Amino acid sequence: MHLLVTGGAGYIGSHTCVAAHAAGHTVTVLDNLCNSSAESLARVERISGRRPRLIVGDIADRAVVRSVLDSEKFDAVIHFAGLKAVGESVAKPWEYYQNNVAGTLVLLDELRRHEVFDFVFSSSATVYGNPDPANLPLRETAPLAAVSPYGATKLWLEEVMRSMAAADPRWHFLLLRYFNPVGAHESGLIGEDPSGIPNNLMPYITQVAVGRLKELTIFGNDYPTPDGTCQRDYIHVCDLAEGHVAALAKVRELPGCTAVNLGTGNAVSVAQLVASFEKAVGRPLPHRYGPRRPGDAAACWADPSKARELFGWTAKRNADDMCRDAWNWQSRNPNGYRGA
Ligand code: NAD
Ligand code: WQD
Repeated sequence: MHLLVTGGAGYIGSHTCVAAHAAGHTVTVLDNLCNSSAESLARVERISGRRPRLIVGDIADRAVVRSVLDSEKFDAVIHFAGLKAVGESVAKPWEYYQNNVAGTLVLLDELRRHEVFDFVFSSSATVYGNPDPANLPLRETAPLAAVSPYGATKLWLEEVMRSMAAADPRWHFLLLRYFNPVGAHESGLIGEDPSGIPNNLMPYITQVAVGRLKELTIFGNDYPTPDGTCQRDYIHVCDLAEGHVAALAKVRELPGCTAVNLGTGNAVSVAQLVASFEKAVGRPLPHRYGPRRPGDAAACWADPSKARELFGWTAKRNADDMCRDAWNWQSRNPNGYRGA
């Protein structure tokens, strides 16, 4: 297939480029590089021997999107482009609605004009809001709720796609709801490279380990979980990338709009992830316990059986693999892609 991958220079996008190449697909990336660098695609080439064509542009820029779609014929789109920081979305909601929602509406409009109807969307477990423990593990039928402007953008876009598919049977939408992507390609050439102080747990851990940050604060140890720290469904980014390739193989067969969880089905606590990381690095990680972070759910993990049934996909890598590969990436690239 010839794939248009929006946001393909980013963390999940670059790993998906590698998986797509391995499956024989050709990739064109449309990315405005607002949270990434073209270096990630140079690294993709070092891994897979092929470099995706990069068009630096914004999905909200209709002229750019139109010229990309005029220039080549695409079989399907994977849409990663978007802003993704929950806290930032609370401070800058308009930017999130403009970038994620308005941008995606431009993209979808141009796709229908160009009759490209197979679309894989980066949704998120955030659409389940702060889940009721009675609904764990989460199936795709669990109640949906937005607990941040970021979450609202994912929920609304899912709704846009559901109604577009209901109105026009030519559309095939796969809404892939990722749980907590972590880790890096085993080569250590590509990985997560957040700008500023990381919000998410794994990049915080790796930056403490490499000496960029002093110590990790574990947010809360009084949750109603086995060790008192929050539980999440961490998924290795390469499993996630392979999940996209498996989904692409089925996108045209599945009618309308289908939501599918991409997770491992395992609940791992913050304390367990820190212990796995210490094992991977072979030394203790400086950390202390602090108060709960407002808005955090005690536990959130997936029932991934629908992905297995529909795509024949299951996650293969465990928490030790995730920590080993995250550390391999960070220790080889202490400052990420900067200075490369
Ligand atoms: P990322 O920031 O590394 O990648 C997003 C990419 O999109 C970046 O390269 C950025 O430059 C680009 N981009 C942003 N806005 C754009 C625009 N208007 N036009 C063109 N390019 C634009 O993030 P990621 O972790 O790889 O996430 C990819 C997608 O997956 C996002 O939509 C995110 O919401 C979703 N997601 C991420 C996670 C996670 O924890 N990483 C979890 C669930 C869902
Ligand atoms: C994981 C656990 C923290 C940092 C977010 C988004 C979600 C999705 C994935 C995009 C929590 C704890 C964290 C730290 C800590 N993204 N923690 N110390 O909040 O589960 O999910 O990323 O769609 O929408 O909300 O991920 O990595 O921030 O936190 O103790 O310094 O680690 O309290 O229990 P989260 P996270």
